[in-house]
Amino acid sequence: MEIYLDTANLEEIEHVMQLPMLDGVTTNPSILSKQNLQPKAIMKEINQRVDGKVWYQLTKDKSEEMVNEALEIVELLDHPVIKLPMGIEALKACSVLTKQGIETNMTLVFSVSQAILAAKAGATYVSPYIGRMNDIGLEGLQFIEDTVNVFKAQEMSTKVIGASIRSNHDVVAIASRGAKAATMSLKVFKQMLEHPMTDKGLVQFSEDWNVYQNRL
Ligand code: E4P
Repeated sequence: MEIYLDTANLEEIEHVMQLPMLDGVTTNPSILSKQNLQPKAIMKEINQRVDGKVWYQLTKDKSEEMVNEALEIVELLDHPVIKLPMGIEALKACSVLTKQGIETNMTLVFSVSQAILAAKAGATYVSPYIGRMNDIGLEGLQFIEDTVNVFKAQEMSTKVIGASIRSNHDVVAIASRGAKAATMSLKVFKQMLEHPMTDKGLVQFSEDWNVYQNRL
């Protein structure tokens, strides 16, 4: 399973990106808007700190403009993934970029039918938004399961990346339903890593070891 950090915060990225289990960094316009640098400058800074894929979401409306924006960003990154927000213009641009060998992600996907169209356009990844679906009373996990099943049944190679993930339980739930990737905040990544029983066990082992060593 691929695991991405969903952030443009350079301190956060430096903090964890050396960890070998992280596959890169995903961004979106809202995430970039929290920084005080121009978008291209932030993307370059992220690229310098990440040994993995760096994802950038296009902001233009028309497919030709989207392709041009993508090509400018691809120049800056070692392993780019271009995110396209779901829509007819994005599907057209996705197809063009895929044919040029550029990895793509159709994002803001909220139905299996949208996911099918993204796969048909050649998207490398599609992003069902689990948290935002649950927020409006829909079944985010069922959506993941249905998308994975349809891709399998249709032999579509597009990978499902779970987005809008709110907890480590979401990560496990989407992994067990066949999602090949997940993107998450540092908070959720830490939830994956940490457990109070691990902490308690470490203290106990350390205390027992010290007692034993002092007795010898
Ligand atoms: C990732 O591609 C998405 O942009 C992100 O996971 C959305 O998460 P949010 O719903 O917490 O903003």
